Amino acid sequence: MNKNIFFLGCGKMGGIIAKNLLENQDFSSCNFLVLKPSESNKINNINYINNITKIPQNYIADIVFICIKPQEAKEILEEFARTKIFHKDTIFISILAGKNLNFFSKIFGSKKQIVRSMPNLGIEVNQGIIPYIHKNLSAENNKIIVDIFAKFGSAFEVEDEKLFHVLTALYGCGPAYIFLMQKIFFDIAISYKIPEKNAKSLTKKLFLGSSLLSSESVFDFSKMIESVASKKGVTEASLETLLKDDKLRKLILKATKNGIARSKKL
Ligand SMILES: NC(=O)c1ccc[n+]([C@@H]2O[C@H](COP(=O)([O-])OP(=O)(O)OC[C@H]3O[C@@H](n4cnc5c(N)ncnc54)[C@H](OP(=O)(O)O)[C@@H]3O)[C@@H](O)[C@H]2O)c1
Repeated sequence: MNKNIFFLGCGKMGGIIAKNLLENQDFSSCNFLVLKPSESNKINNINYINNITKIPQNYIADIVFICIKPQEAKEILEEFARTKIFHKDTIFISILAGKNLNFFSKIFGSKKQIVRSMPNLGIEVNQGIIPYIHKNLSAENNKIIVDIFAKFGSAFEVEDEKLFHVLTALYGCGPAYIFLMQKIFFDIAISYKIPEKNAKSLTKKLFLGSSLLSSESVFDFSKMIESVASKKGVTEASLETLLKDDKLRKLILKATKNGIARSKKL
């Protein structure tokens, strides 16, 4: 592939995407240009500029990754759209929470080829989940984005854009739920005087081993719970508390609803 790939914003998520593509053989003939990488996150071997006025003359982007914060997006994108560094086949790929396809069409034009995606942090280890939806995408460009997303994990096309709010709240935010569970396990282990270094590695291995088991298993989740919780055993006694009155599920559902509400507000 031989494309001009432009990053608008390059913080945590943009940095992961840019580094991954930069290191990938398939993109070795591409030219990367980054507008305003975070100071703390400068990437080696990449061209970057700190101001929109520094975009080289006659530069035209084939692919634009939009990786800025949604709260600041409208003004930044309106200014960016005025640069007109696009052609009719430029692909705009957004990773912004809460901003729908229409938001980008209004700014860049109704005929522009836009992809809305919601990668989660798993993309850093090529195990991400990337729901996406697109508008006006040509068959050729569709193939390009499928190839790009495949470098980061499992991508799947979403038919109903309204689902993005719940996908964001569950799978975009999901890694933070898992890290929170790990922190709780770690804190409890410490409170029972398990040495800190053991508590940390045991907790990490617990989640890694369970994830691998789960991803390799043909059983549904209830069956997998049963496989650990034998009758009158220790696990059963522990789970009883979590399952009583469906408390844990209700709490997580409430958290998800709050996430959905925030996503809708952005
Ligand atoms: N974090 C996640 O797990 C996650 C998951 C899925 C999607 N997302 C989405 O990804 C997007 C980026 O999130 P993030 O966590 O990567 O945020 P971030 O680390 O704050 O990155 C935002 C980037 O935009 C840059 N920026 C600010 N003003 C700009 C301007 N005028 N022109 C160009 N760039 C500008 C920032 O530079 P400075 O640092 O110099 O301000 C920074 O590099 C968000 O829209 C979020 O909804 C995040």
